[in-house]
Amino acid sequence: MQYRNLGRSGLQVSVVGLGCNNFGGRLEIDQTRAVVDKALDLGINLFDTADVYGGAGKSEEQLGEVLKGRRDQVVLATKFASPMGDGPMKRGASRRYIVQAVEDSLRRLQTDYIDLYQIHRPDASTPIEETLRALDDLVHAGKVRYIGSSNFTGWQVVESHYLAEKHNLEPFVSAQNEYNLLDRRIERELVPACDKYGVGILPFFPLASGFLTGKYRQGEEPPQGARLSGGPMAGRVLNEGNFATLGRLENFAKERGHTILELAIGWLASQPHVPSVIAGATKPEQVEANVAAAEWTLTPEELAEADTISKH
Ligand SMILES: NC(=O)c1ccc[n+]([C@@H]2O[C@H](COP(=O)([O-])OP(=O)(O)OC[C@H]3O[C@@H](n4cnc5c(N)ncnc54)[C@H](OP(=O)(O)O)[C@@H]3O)[C@@H](O)[C@H]2O)c1
Repeated sequence: MQYRNLGRSGLQVSVVGLGCNNFGGRLEIDQTRAVVDKALDLGINLFDTADVYGGAGKSEEQLGEVLKGRRDQVVLATKFASPMGDGPMKRGASRRYIVQAVEDSLRRLQTDYIDLYQIHRPDASTPIEETLRALDDLVHAGKVRYIGSSNFTGWQVVESHYLAEKHNLEPFVSAQNEYNLLDRRIERELVPACDKYGVGILPFFPLASGFLTGKYRQGEEPPQGARLSGGPMAGRVLNEGNFATLGRLENFAKERGHTILELAIGWLASQPHVPSVIAGATKPEQVEANVAAAEWTLTPEELAEADTISKH
């Protein structure tokens, strides 16, 4: 396993991380344990969850349970700000809410510190200075080691960086945003902003929810129980345009002796601004395949060609 610095921080994270949003919702605790055990065996150290995953804290609870006695081996990343209940008091990025949310996450995760605490989404009703000051206090109190953003735009990353510098506050070291071979919107504004300020990009939906593994075939029923066998994401991803791009990408990978999964993960891992590819998994075999996939480092020529194909 290769380890890289998370942005400009000294924190080393595995180039393949584990997305934990299946835990607690789609996976029972024994299934979660099997996935986590395999990840640790293979040298994955970055585990990305959120308070909302699995339905109100269930992913954090399962992760806390299965990591018992192994907490020191992992970089634990979680998030706050998404709605954890009805009304304005159980969401957002105000000082009042953050101070409560961190205690709730620490309790569910059965730990006394979070390695990377991320704001899940921008909160338009809270000044970002207030959020940054509250997060800075958590770092100084020893409850949080590093802070990151998620779903921010380029200008929001720049604004946060500028205010952190101006007021001598902890800066965001990472930005978690949707990024894969089918969705490259962040390359326009967010990537240049993160490059400029040394913020590491953690791509979410790196496999487009499993579509970029090639297991969904046009005109065929999705595999039973698979993520895109139903629900709103299926409608968003399983369409003609995406199947056409998938076909081109599969040919490109095959001509070079690789699979589409290896291309999806290898392409992201070959981007200099990506420290870790946090793919989700429901089975240990998937974790194994995802770790192996990162071994393909694309040459500059291969990257340029893959860029052209995926942009069609
Ligand atoms: N910040 C945000 O707003 C945000 C939003 C979404 C996600 N995230 C984070 O990003 C992480 C990754 O995203 P994601 O898990 O939603 O999507 P993803 O990584 O694109 O896809 C994960 C799904 O792909 C399938 N899969 C994975 N490896 C496979 C393999 N080797 N072979 C076949 N199928 C495979 C599994 O689906 P099956 O169920 O079909 O087995 C798995 O649940 C999340 O876990 C979460 O931590 C963050």
